[in-house]
Amino acid sequence: MRTADIGLIGLAVMGQNLVLNMADHGYTVAVYNRTTARTTEFLDGPARGTGVIGTETIEEFVNCLTRPRRVMLMVKAGGPVDAIVNQLVPLLDEGDIIIDGGNSYFEDSIRRTMDLKERGLRFIGAGISGGEEGARHGPSIMPGGDPGAWPHVKGILQDIAAKVADGTPCCDWVGPDGAGHYTKMVHNGIEYGDMQVIAEAYHLMKVGLGMSHADMAAVFRRWGDGLLDSYLIDITADILGHTDEQGDPTLEVILDAAGQKGTGKWTVISSLDLGYPMTLVAEAVYARVVSALLDQRIEAAGVLGSAVDESGVAGQEWGDDFVDAIHDALYASKIVSYAQGFMLLGAAGGEYGWDLDYGRIAQLWREGCIIRAAFLDDITAAFARRPDLPSLLLDGFFTDALRKADSGWRRVVTAAVGAGIPVPAYSSALAFYDAYRSERLPANLIQAQRDYFGAHTYERIDRPRGEFFHTDWTRPGGAAT
Ligand code: 6PG
Repeated sequence: MRTADIGLIGLAVMGQNLVLNMADHGYTVAVYNRTTARTTEFLDGPARGTGVIGTETIEEFVNCLTRPRRVMLMVKAGGPVDAIVNQLVPLLDEGDIIIDGGNSYFEDSIRRTMDLKERGLRFIGAGISGGEEGARHGPSIMPGGDPGAWPHVKGILQDIAAKVADGTPCCDWVGPDGAGHYTKMVHNGIEYGDMQVIAEAYHLMKVGLGMSHADMAAVFRRWGDGLLDSYLIDITADILGHTDEQGDPTLEVILDAAGQKGTGKWTVISSLDLGYPMTLVAEAVYARVVSALLDQRIEAAGVLGSAVDESGVAGQEWGDDFVDAIHDALYASKIVSYAQGFMLLGAAGGEYGWDLDYGRIAQLWREGCIIRAAFLDDITAAFARRPDLPSLLLDGFFTDALRKADSGWRRVVTAAVGAGIPVPAYSSALAFYDAYRSERLPANLIQAQRDYFGAHTYERIDRPRGEFFHTDWTRPGGAAT
């Protein structure tokens, strides 16, 4: 019987492409899919001539793997992962390894690492980013879980991963239990944020400045050669430049109701749980939610009237260099978003006991994944300068970048508010930036109100932290106690 170096379960597109990628790198891969027809189609189609071993039962699949067995799951997150794990467990031997490559919730990966360890098995939750193309030719891979499993899968995963310019793979051990999937979740949250800041630029150019699609495409093309050099900017230029058979922009026939599968929402939920701001990503998630309320929006546009004049009239007053100001608003907002993302990773590292290497995480995202961007090198450099940097906003490079972008950013937010064009990501990022650098915020009033109606007590500026006071607010001159 032929034996395989690794097995993969779940032959949807991502699974198929990872198998082909492994085969390209000289690995023999066994595959199993719930419906055998798909396995047959794969073997007769894309996998023809690759040496991939097709199996019809999960027992046959397990039996052809070399030991310790390495089984990669590319099935839908949630119940389907548990279902397959439960099928596999009785068939596996001590030390065998299960790698979940889906977009699983990190708490599930924490649980699965523990449960499988108790049964003598080793679990890896590996976030994989890059879509179909990345899976085929080199994704970014963020593995976490049982550290004892890593040496057994490191070679394969690093071989199939994307590489940065010096050849370093965009795959490295992130940390124990849920650390890999948590990092992928934050990646996805940031992905939502990046997409929203780009969408706001498009909206301002289209309805504010009345620009043509060709001109917008050219602007994004130019931006992609500068500070904003990234995959998402590049594909946006392609999308804006795409026309249908009649020569009309394809983008404009696409319904403006955004979907989501939940990873952005999870990021925001985690930020609320940990008490860290993820305001830009939250606005990006809500922007999708608002877009999806299409019927209500249409009714409201009729009842309330839209503030926006779609003809580009608003922008006549905005000045010739307004496109540059949009660039600065986008760049500054992106800096805030990544600063928030890395603050959240720091908080999660503390909460869950993960010793995360932030500079390395930025390099895992440098190629292969959806948020790949030159900008990530600046983040790695910032953490090299100060590994315990509490926030990217405190690093000199980003401080200077924000100072330079400041006036354009404010100009864009002000103009957008005046014209009734929603820019929730730019404006929430600006609000965070202004709050974060304020020595004094109005939270003293919040504390006073809490103390007034609920005797929740407050700390004083002239006393050490941790001493709490209460005022009898209804009695003039009421003494603090
Ligand atoms: C990736 C993507 C991928 C996918 C997400 C987001 O890193 O390759 O993030 O995981 O696009 O599922 O999808 P939604 O926008 O549907 O939430």
